[in-house]
Formats: sequence, structure tokens, C-alpha cells
Amino acid sequence: MSSEPATPPDADRARPTRRTVLATTAAAGGALTVGALPDFMESTAQATEQAPTSEVTVTVNGTRHTLTVDNRTSLLDLLREHLKLTGTKKGCDAGACGACTVLVDGRRVNGCLTLAVRLHGREVTTIEGVARADQLHPLQQAFIDQDAFQCGYCTSGQIMSGLGCIKEGHATSGDRIRESMSGNICRCGCYPKIVRAVEQAARHS
Ligand code: FES
Ligand code: FES
Repeated sequence: MSSEPATPPDADRARPTRRTVLATTAAAGGALTVGALPDFMESTAQATEQAPTSEVTVTVNGTRHTLTVDNRTSLLDLLREHLKLTGTKKGCDAGACGACTVLVDGRRVNGCLTLAVRLHGREVTTIEGVARADQLHPLQQAFIDQDAFQCGYCTSGQIMSGLGCIKEGHATSGDRIRESMSGNICRCGCYPKIVRAVEQAARHS
């Protein structure tokens, strides 16, 4: 006599096997992915199309520009992507490296942390606006004289920060320059030469 409980034939058919579970999951997942993707893409496209824009008039290196920009556009992207002024560099894009330093109305700002739409009517100076015709700015010349760069990626930000440092009256000693420019990171470690370059330019300003 068998000890196994009798299984009704219908219960066997209703019980899911590993094979049927996998097949069902794959089918459902495929249907979800294929079905949901167009909706997702459409809503993303709509969001991009509907992103609020503003007209901004800003003077960059003495030239007045009026542009319509997405309200989320940073000053850094305005310079690099809209005006093709690529001398200002994007390092961290998060306010931590200083590579994007430019002057707004003569004061240092991180371009990546500044919204372009907030600059309506303001004056921006970038590294492209520092030299006069063929004449390098004394701080640019000092960077060359002091060999104050290696890869050069941080250099435009260092020079713009150095200009701000001198203008703000902080270039009175190596320590003060270091403190004033502590937001400008140089991965190549050229700090001693950068400080000497700022000191040299400060002596002639
Ligand atoms: Fe702006 Fe690094 S790119 S601080
Ligand atoms: Fe290379 Fe400063 S010169 S990061």
C-alpha cells in the first residue's frame, strides 16, 4: 500500500514549476521594458522641451551677448557651450576645484556654481579677456617666468583667482596668497610656483 498522499490531478497542473516561473517573469519583464520605454522617452523629451528658459544679457570680456538659456544653465556651461569660450575649464562641476574660476564684476566666482540667468546685466571676465592684444597680462607672464604649471588644466582658474587675490589686496605674503587661493586645486602640485607667480605680478601691479 502506498504511503504518499494522493495528489489531485488538477492541483499538479496549477502548481508553478521553476521553468514556468522563469518563463513568466521573463515575459512580464520584457513586456514591461518594451512597453514602458517609449512612455519614459516621451516624458523625458517633453520635460526637456518644457524646461523653462530665460533671456539673459551679459557682457563677457567687453562684448555684450543676449542669449536664451535653460534656467538651469551654469555660467560655466554658458561660457563653454554657448559662447565657445573654452579657456575656462570644467573640473569637478561641483564647486570643489576652482578650475572654473572667472570674475563677475571683478569678483571671483566658481562658474559651475553660478546660474547664468542670475548674471543679467553683469560683466564677466574670463581668461580669454585678460591679455591686451598681443601683450600678456603681467600675471600670465609671471606664470611663464615661474614655470607655474605642468599639465595646465588648472591654470586659467589659477590665473583668474590670482587676479582676484591681487585686486582684493590679499597678495601681501605667501601665506595670505595660499589662503586666498586655497579653493584652487592643482593636481600637479605646482603650488609654490603659483604663489611665486602671484607675488611677482603683485609687485608690478
Ligand atoms: Fe567649478 Fe570645479 S569645475 S569648482
Ligand atoms: Fe596640472 Fe595644475 S598644472 S593641475
